[in-house]
Amino acid sequence: MQSIASLPGPRGIPLLGARQLAPETAHLRLEEWCERHGPIFRFDTGGRRWMAIGEMEAIAGVLRERPDVFARIWPAPLRPEAATALGPLWQEGQQWRRTRRLAIASLDADHLHRYFHATRVASGWLRRGLQERARDGGPLAIGEQLADFAVDACLALSFGFELRSLERSHGDLRALVQAASAALPGFPGAVVAARRPARASASALPPALGELQEALATLLADARRRASADSSPQDGTASFVSAMLAARGRQGDFEDGEILGTAAGLLLAGSQSTASAAAWALWLAARDHDIQARIAREASKALGDSPSPSDLSTVSRLRFCRAVVLEALRLKPATPILAVQPVVRTTIMDITLPPGTPVCLLLRYATTDGDIETVNVEQWLNDAQTPEGGPFLAFGSGARFCPGKTLALMLATTALAMIVRNFHVELDSETVIEHAGPLSMEPRGLMVRLREREASGRLR
Ligand code: HEM
Repeated sequence: MQSIASLPGPRGIPLLGARQLAPETAHLRLEEWCERHGPIFRFDTGGRRWMAIGEMEAIAGVLRERPDVFARIWPAPLRPEAATALGPLWQEGQQWRRTRRLAIASLDADHLHRYFHATRVASGWLRRGLQERARDGGPLAIGEQLADFAVDACLALSFGFELRSLERSHGDLRALVQAASAALPGFPGAVVAARRPARASASALPPALGELQEALATLLADARRRASADSSPQDGTASFVSAMLAARGRQGDFEDGEILGTAAGLLLAGSQSTASAAAWALWLAARDHDIQARIAREASKALGDSPSPSDLSTVSRLRFCRAVVLEALRLKPATPILAVQPVVRTTIMDITLPPGTPVCLLLRYATTDGDIETVNVEQWLNDAQTPEGGPFLAFGSGARFCPGKTLALMLATTALAMIVRNFHVELDSETVIEHAGPLSMEPRGLMVRLREREASGRLR
């Protein structure tokens, strides 16, 4: 048996550790260290010694051993009330077991069919907004438009309120969701956090999250009124929340706070990450003429005269678009690193870990072998190569894998196909950098120019 101290790693500054780590770029520095020191190394930061792993099998082993052996680490310990308000991603133990059931119940295949209405409407808003911007002719920060699309879709999916009323009020709600997402405790923050966080941040929810909670509580009350008035919701009002309210009787006695926190958690965990996936997929298409031409051909064939996919079976015919999204997620995953700690004494590859030892999992490094330049969309067209079986950890793995995977792929594939079907996309600036926010790594600086296409696919 070895100890972490015997592992290779970068030299730290006594007491301060590796001061070079900043949350936005910590993943890049860690990947550099992995390249230099090998797939298992140690580093010191914030007064703590971490073990880092960039090897697929070892990472898969850790992810499989959750929740009994490993738990997630956040920048500061969350009080149970704060964890309740944030949903399953931020919970552990019994609290997580209960809300995970709720999340799974609201994201099952039957609901995804019903939710498609919201996706179609949100994609229509995105297309109309992009048309206006394309006619202006200037450069466009497409990531912002995709963030609005993802928040609109996830809000409508979460609460099922009439999309027309969302169109009137979505400016405010979007702003609340985006502010709350930026204030979330996330993995990059966990890796750079000091051992002893300030007391206030250790306990309470940031104010932006409190404001979002209040707005969502009002929406939950509306959703419950609708659910009691109508036991079989129409397509337009099917929602995560109505599915959770229905699951209440069948799957257990859930409290309102758990339902609200789970819905908020789906919204927060899902919207930025989906927007980033769509933005990176569009970046791949904008850089490579062949990829873009192939998406345009496929979308034109699958969509016919329709500007956007009109149902889930159309999305399932967009195999190449989906492959581009998967490749974007392999090279630019929302979560390039995860932070975990053992809750009991354990070993990883002959290294003994006492409970509480911080461990950083380099998900992207493990699935790319450190090569984030070589694009291989084709691999995802091979039926034998599924995200579950292939070199892919963008949605995690084991009992805590992402329950929003199918929905996220559906949303990002729909957005990519709709945009390339209706517009030719050109990069305006080559300067695109990976910026890791609390929960998603976005293409900062991605600016594009759009030219509208006619229904025939010809450029206007
Ligand atoms: C492309 C978009 C997305 C990506 C890349 C992504 C990625 C991830 C990752 C890496 C995890 C951690 C998995 C693990 O620890 O094994 C996760 C967890 C989670 N995701 Fe996603 N996600 C996406 C979209 C969504 C969507 C759309 C939703 C819901 C609407 C969602 C809800 C969640 C939840 C609730 C968890 C916590 C699961 C648990 O702890 O049991 N995600 N996601």
